[in-house]
Amino acid sequence: MIVENNACRAPRVYLETYGCQMNIADSQMVTAILQQAGYATTSDANEADIILLNTCAIREHAEDRVLGRLSDLARLKDARPRRKLGLLGCMAQHNRASLLKKAPWLDVVAGPDSYRRLPELLAGVAGDPTVDVRLDRAETYSDISPAYDSGVRAYVTVMRGCDKFCAFCVVPYVRGRERSVPLPAILREVERLAERGTKEIVLLGQTVNAYRYNQVGFGQLLRMVAAVDGITRIRFTSPHPSDMTADVIEAMAQEPKVQPYLHLPVQSGSDRILAAMGRGYTTEAYLRLVERLRSAIPNLALSTDIIVGFHGEEESDFAATLDLMRRVGYDSAFMFKYSVREHTRAFKLGDTVSNEEKSRRLAEVIALQESLSLERNRALIGREFPVLVEGPARRGGGMMVGKTPQFKTALFPASPSINIGDTVNVRIASATAHSLLSTVP
Ligand code: 5AD
Ligand code: SF4
Repeated sequence: MIVENNACRAPRVYLETYGCQMNIADSQMVTAILQQAGYATTSDANEADIILLNTCAIREHAEDRVLGRLSDLARLKDARPRRKLGLLGCMAQHNRASLLKKAPWLDVVAGPDSYRRLPELLAGVAGDPTVDVRLDRAETYSDISPAYDSGVRAYVTVMRGCDKFCAFCVVPYVRGRERSVPLPAILREVERLAERGTKEIVLLGQTVNAYRYNQVGFGQLLRMVAAVDGITRIRFTSPHPSDMTADVIEAMAQEPKVQPYLHLPVQSGSDRILAAMGRGYTTEAYLRLVERLRSAIPNLALSTDIIVGFHGEEESDFAATLDLMRRVGYDSAFMFKYSVREHTRAFKLGDTVSNEEKSRRLAEVIALQESLSLERNRALIGREFPVLVEGPARRGGGMMVGKTPQFKTALFPASPSINIGDTVNVRIASATAHSLLSTVP
């Protein structure tokens, strides 16, 4: 029999994150909460006393992946029975009723508003699962400074939850009502990050431009973050087109630190489908907004989210989506097959488009976007851009990588005089749909 004789050391936590940037930021906060409570962290699940998965519920596929991973990790539990397995985040909230049936090996289930109580939940009696999925309209975790990773870029959560209730989307149900982080807490975090050498701040929220704290809206928040010394670049994600006010556009246009890149989810190019989705704008209004943005912000890059095969999407609606993509000429896009989600407004409507047809439509939007991205990137050949250096390129070969102001990935030859965190001017020599091969003139 193997006796574990390391009772004195701090219990080790292994945390794996799925889904969006909000989840990555939440994981950094969970890490800070657990460290404060005396836990140590590890990047090796085999070594861990506690294994946590921070999960996503946005599409069925995301949930299936986590359930698969959970059954793998359950085997590690067999090897060390006192090891605890916990599931955090959106999937915990979404599946609160069925989760323990689907994954009986779970010890802890905690939703996005329960992280403060994680140390107590983890201290619960072994073998007796603890579940905490209470949503809390007021929770912003504004007093907790996340355990940021060391990088030139840091993500700062400025608002949580969503009040838009788009018909397809589970977010308002799993992350609860919209609430903004108090302004002083945001500025304190940004200042702290600037002191430790972070160059770029990405402000995060499910509908980030709905930010409001007393009289301060999102445009003013951008200006106040831009006033922090040491920070050289500011981005934000994801804005909702309906909250893209003149004030926000003006701040983007006037503040040099706010980068000329916007992720502006459109979801569909058909007015009929947009209305059914409850998105709150027409294609005409969206295109007008794009025009206003482009005339206010020179060299603006735009990306978007597209869903194909939503309930009732006919061939003509799909054609309208392709048409809108061409008209805007997006720099990049995230494209998804519609996934029916329990609790959402569209749930009871079900699917009208077969999976095969969704796959065909998805392949078509992806192919179109590849050609649009390539065309837009090729148009940059010969031009120069300041690139914030992130580190060695993954493909090696003596190349380094960083982002242009438009959030495009630029590769350029390493040299002893170029360090991580520097901003270097590069000239674009050639382009693919996903990256820019550059020289340092
Ligand atoms: N099915 C497919 N895609 C979805 N998204 C949100 N809900 C669903 C769903 N049920 C997409 C939207 C959103 C992005 C984060 O995920 O495009 O903008
Ligand atoms: Fe979901 Fe719509 Fe809210 Fe975005 S705005 S998180 S798509 S409900």
